[in-house]
Amino acid sequence: MEKPDAQSFSYSLSLDKNGFIPLYYQIQQALIEKIQAGELAVGDCLPSEFELARSYQVSRMTARQALHNLKSRGYALSQKGRGTYVTRPKLEKNIMHLRGFTEDMKRRGMMPSSRLLAQTVLLAKGVLTEQLRVEEGSAVLQLRRLRIADGTPMALEESHIPLKHYPGLERTDFSSESLYKVLRDKYGVRAAWADEVLEASPATREESELLSIPKNAIMLSISRVIMTTAEIPIEVACSRYCGHRYRASIRVPTTTIE
Ligand code: GLP
Repeated sequence: MEKPDAQSFSYSLSLDKNGFIPLYYQIQQALIEKIQAGELAVGDCLPSEFELARSYQVSRMTARQALHNLKSRGYALSQKGRGTYVTRPKLEKNIMHLRGFTEDMKRRGMMPSSRLLAQTVLLAKGVLTEQLRVEEGSAVLQLRRLRIADGTPMALEESHIPLKHYPGLERTDFSSESLYKVLRDKYGVRAAWADEVLEASPATREESELLSIPKNAIMLSISRVIMTTAEIPIEVACSRYCGHRYRASIRVPTTTIE
């Protein structure tokens, strides 16, 4: 991938150096405008800290801050040996919605797909029996899927579903089918509520390879137990989203300020 020449950015040397808007913010916005206008596409390299500082006649610290903000807002990512390059803006994941991945991506106008990493029937034991409220040794479907949207790997998901309630589910081809669609259409299941735990942690080596992200990149982990209206556990799942592709959002219900 061609690295843009610092000179190619010189036409945008129009910082307001006497105004109230911080210089780093003006640079950051200029770059975001270029990304939004398609002048800088996903995968394109951004100018280095040094090149930015030279083009805009600012200190390297100012340039660093602009690049840092672009990264934390999900517009860019730095990788050793590759520099800083443009990524897709983060998808906002409303954690109050119990929407499946397929449905969620379709609503965003993206094309969902999966790479099936494992589809196994195992016998429940330990904490899984408590979470799924099944007896020790009860058959459980384990699914591990790499979830992809518009060809970009977005998340790794591991699900456990009690087969006692959904016999035959293990024969579904989950490389192409949506779990929630099958549960809804074939078994008449509807999710009512879920207990979720959110956590940030670094990507493992396997995750960084499968998701094409740097080793130790920050991941947003969402572990959930999802229940029916009859209080029967449907699924125990752990979804590991790329931190630079997702951010979590929530609407806090009416409450009093304490
Ligand atoms: C979300 C949930 C997972 C669930 C998946 C089902 O991503 N976090 O727990 O397994 O949706 O998605 P689909 O219906 O596409 O199989």
